[in-house]
Formats: sequence, structure tokens, C-alpha cells
Amino acid sequence: MSESAIVQPQISHHLLLCATPTKVKCCDPSTGIASWNELKRVIRELGLENTKRPEGIVLRSKVDCLRVCERGPILVVWPDGIWYTEVTADKIKPIVQQHIVQQQPIQKWIHKTTPFKTNSPVIE
Ligand code: FES
Repeated sequence: MSESAIVQPQISHHLLLCATPTKVKCCDPSTGIASWNELKRVIRELGLENTKRPEGIVLRSKVDCLRVCERGPILVVWPDGIWYTEVTADKIKPIVQQHIVQQQPIQKWIHKTTPFKTNSPVIE
């Protein structure tokens, strides 16, 4: 990292949502866009983008395909590596509140768990 690098706020989670893929496979686009809009709304409502949040901010990204391609919308929560399927708009708030805020993933909605395997050297 160079001395002129910009210091970014700490990040607690990054949520990736396959909502409106180019090749429509995992969900109807109207279902996906409703989930995406709700995700943005809930993150804002709960103050999870506040750079003063002690745990760090929560990032959200709409991605094109997460290679599940069925039972969408698909939501992946990093760094936990937890994948949720069928994440319709009504499931967004419970997932964000219970998983992100209370750190209690919703087991019954989890499709799979794939934690990172880190082989990279840590550079201090
Ligand atoms: S199209 Fe959504 S995971 Fe592939």
C-alpha cells in the first residue's frame, strides 16, 4: 500500500445478490429487482452504511451470476461464505437483521456454506 493510499472504513460484510442476471436463469427479473431494492432500503434503514458503525460498514453489490442459476435470487454473505437461495424481498430484512446485525445466520434458508480458505500471506 502506498503512503498516498486512501484509508477506507472497515468493512464488516459484503453482500452479493444475483438479482437481474443478463441470462435470466435463477429468478424472474421482477422478483430480483424487488429483492435488490429491498436490500438497498434495509441497509440504509438500519444504518449499515454508517462509516462510524463500530463493526464496519456493510457493502452490497448486484452481480450478474453466482453460478447457482436456480432457486434465485441468490444472496452470498462474505466473509461468512453463506449462500441463501430464494431470497425474495420479504426475506431480505430478516436476513440482514438476524445474520448481519445479530450475527445469527438463518439456518433454514441457507443453501450452502463456503468459507474462504486463505493461503495468501498477510502483509502488515
Ligand atoms: S443466473 Fe443467478 S446464479 Fe446464475
